[in-house]
Amino acid sequence: MQSLKIEVNTDELIQRIEQLASISDCPEPPPAVTRVVFTETDLKARALLGSLYEAAGLNVRVDAIGNTFARWVGSEPHEAAVGTGSHTDAIPHSGMYDGTVGVLGGLEAILALKRAGFQPRRSIELVMFTSEEPTRFGMGCTGSRAMAGAISIERLVELVDDAGDNYDVVRKRAGFEGSLESVRLQEGYYHAWLELHIEQGPELEAASRDIGVVTAIAAPATYLFEVVGVGGHAGAVLMPKRRDALCSAAKIVLAIEYLAKKSISPDLVATVGQLHVHPGAINSIPSHVRFSMDIRDTDMTNRDDVVAEAVAWAGRIAKQREVDVRHLCLNSDPPAISSPIIIDAVEKACDEAAVTRQRMISRAYHDSLFMARISPSGMIFIPCRGGVSHRPDEYSAPEQIAKGVSVLARALANLAE
Ligand code: HGY
Ligand code: MN
Ligand code: MN
Repeated sequence: MQSLKIEVNTDELIQRIEQLASISDCPEPPPAVTRVVFTETDLKARALLGSLYEAAGLNVRVDAIGNTFARWVGSEPHEAAVGTGSHTDAIPHSGMYDGTVGVLGGLEAILALKRAGFQPRRSIELVMFTSEEPTRFGMGCTGSRAMAGAISIERLVELVDDAGDNYDVVRKRAGFEGSLESVRLQEGYYHAWLELHIEQGPELEAASRDIGVVTAIAAPATYLFEVVGVGGHAGAVLMPKRRDALCSAAKIVLAIEYLAKKSISPDLVATVGQLHVHPGAINSIPSHVRFSMDIRDTDMTNRDDVVAEAVAWAGRIAKQREVDVRHLCLNSDPPAISSPIIIDAVEKACDEAAVTRQRMISRAYHDSLFMARISPSGMIFIPCRGGVSHRPDEYSAPEQIAKGVSVLARALANLAE
């Protein structure tokens, strides 16, 4: 679509991103953001998006768990649509660009195409996924998993939040009704899928490249470990008698780090991000500890080998220290491989937009990890300063975002014509 005159209204786009960032539960002001799924703040953010979609003349549909679809109807409305989008939920104390660049950037791409006089043959549909982050229910991408049929209804309603309320109760309390089965999209619902996102890593900035053409998304897995020891009085129980759950857990956490560092794959990463101690009193020996393990690799077999090593190591520590250790798999997903059709459309769009590009993998997971199961799929990355993300100082410059939107608009036009 060389002939298209794509002009991104960068000021308006940044203003929308800032407006969305101001809808936050974070005690610190923007750019720090906290926006957890199905909270009042999440609903306020959805209302803002709804007003923007209406102003853009898009047809809006919301499914039974809050996935939101804003459609620009094409001249062939019965043909499979071209999809784009991302998420607007944000983990606590994080940044204002993760996910929002894909939703508001997708909207701006549609507006830029409209301003350029483009008329899509295939409809173009902007999606805002419910709950890409694992914050509330411990599992990421519940919206796109349910759309792609990558999670059973039974498993979805088993997920509970810290208050012990399950997914079904919480989604209904937030006002989302309808059968959970209806969330599932049939294979072929989208002709093509493309997500714009900040890289959340340092490669593009280091290489001074404008655009990352994502070829694969690393395989994520999440486990919960529980260590059960014996509690007691911090003064009265002598050291040889102790079966301290927290000291045992600490050895397992360090073993996980050691196994990840020595893995044969440089892409293997493991993180213990949550750890809860019971009873959590200064003068009481920890009897129970629960902690999470987020582990990823582009090579799923290697990832699972490291998981097996970590579980075996935990078993040895349990024996040595006479505690009980249990583990539970929350999710263990294969990697996603981008479709050559989408890679080609993105690279063509980069050349039309005269921006630099490079192929790369995504170490972060995204909803596209699951959209790839039901549609030819791909992602466009833009650089973020210092590769920082999931922190308030996450930042992409207006001109970097504008280049990403311009490439997205052209790629969508190529795919929808
Ligand atoms: O954790 C991730 O990779 C994503 O940012 N939720
Ligand atoms: Mn994120
Ligand atoms: Mn994200």
